[in-house]
Amino acid sequence: MADDVKGQELMDKLVSLCKRRGFIFPSSEIYGGFNGFWDYGPYGCRMKRAVESLWWREMVETRDNVEGLDSTIIANPTIWKASGHIDQFSDLMTDCKNCKARHRVDQMEDPTTCPVCGSKDLTEPKEFNLMMKTFVGPVFDDEHVAYLRAETCQPIFVNFHSVRVATRQKLPFGVAQIGKAFRNEINPRNFTFRSREFTQMEMEFFCDGEEGMKWFEYWKEQRINYYRNKLQFPEEFMRIHVHDKLAHYAKAAIDIEVQFPFGWGELEGVHHRGTWDLSQHSKFSGVDLSYMDHDNHRTLMPTVIETSVGLDRTILALLSRAYDEDTAATKKEGMEEDVRVVLHLPPLVAPIQAAVLPQSKKLKENAEALYKDISRYFRSEYDDTGSIGKRYRRQDEIGTPYCITFDFDSLNDNAVTVRDRDTMLQERIGITQLRDYLEKKIGF
Ligand code: GAP
Repeated sequence: MADDVKGQELMDKLVSLCKRRGFIFPSSEIYGGFNGFWDYGPYGCRMKRAVESLWWREMVETRDNVEGLDSTIIANPTIWKASGHIDQFSDLMTDCKNCKARHRVDQMEDPTTCPVCGSKDLTEPKEFNLMMKTFVGPVFDDEHVAYLRAETCQPIFVNFHSVRVATRQKLPFGVAQIGKAFRNEINPRNFTFRSREFTQMEMEFFCDGEEGMKWFEYWKEQRINYYRNKLQFPEEFMRIHVHDKLAHYAKAAIDIEVQFPFGWGELEGVHHRGTWDLSQHSKFSGVDLSYMDHDNHRTLMPTVIETSVGLDRTILALLSRAYDEDTAATKKEGMEEDVRVVLHLPPLVAPIQAAVLPQSKKLKENAEALYKDISRYFRSEYDDTGSIGKRYRRQDEIGTPYCITFDFDSLNDNAVTVRDRDTMLQERIGITQLRDYLEKKIGF
């Protein structure tokens, strides 16, 4: 089968699993949906929060020199003038005069032919700004236009001084933020990969320009190691794209790309942005954002190294990597189906880390007590409906790494059977050792 057909098949299966099992739903579905917007269901939002906290722990909580920020989505519109978004954040578009479809010129295989109807009757390409507009205050005129932030990093630059003064940080230090960003993408596509509302996790590291390349290399390595070690992405699933065309202010830039079902796609950017951001905001605000280096009696405009990743793309990458149909395992565990659908998600970010399954409903009381206990430490679920085999399959499909069966013997030996999602092997573990056992396995 050709790779793009296989890719499309995998994408269709993922979209269907995500909807069926409550990971991701089309937004406003009962009203026919809303292109480019997605809602996260019960398992999706558990996973999203898990990835967010992993990133936050990795980038902020375990470092003395990175602080956090949670800024507003709408802010003074001059910010977006200073950042260049109002004048330059646009795509070149063309409209088909025949079928009225609108296309991004850089995404057309042949920019003279409409990819929808084949017509050659296209309008002259024109710039289309991607900023989402709204109005602030009671009057809806040009004076009151504001924008939903197109990236989470600009408020970090704007708050540079306040964060530094409040925390007494000295260069080099970073500021991180997780939050929503909005872009009026012309062709939202590939499920959540290109959406109009999405979550970014960004960290801006401020340093002396002399050390810019050193920190760029440092953060590049840190971020690649995070994907290798924390998200367990194998080498063949990732690649680095080095930018050869750089923004006029940038000194170096790379993208970490992964293999989505539709092909390689950008997951994260690590960029050396020079002094551009703080210089622009100094110029437009009239507030000098340069840094007084008291130790060396000098003033400098800090250089910025940025790491920027989409949370939705991370979830999509994890799901794409995890999805598997296992035919070898079917007859084990006494099941009739031909295939076992399983998500091999890293236990740290699986929506459910441990499921408690009583062998019989008669054991409900004891099994529920165990579930209540372990749910204080792990994302857990209790399920007593259907055969054990069916319950295993339900958990496999949402990526639960450990299923814990409480059986009649458990009443006497105070132990349970823990079944591993990937190997399907079972181990008998004493209930008093269960927490330690799971912590080690999950890799806290
Ligand atoms: N501050 C730099 C910045 O925003 P970007 O490459 O435009 O750079 C960074 O975005 C990351 O945000 C991307 O690598 C991607 O993971 C995510 N992202 C960007 N546009 C997106 C969209 N339309 N839908 C989902 N994620 C998006």
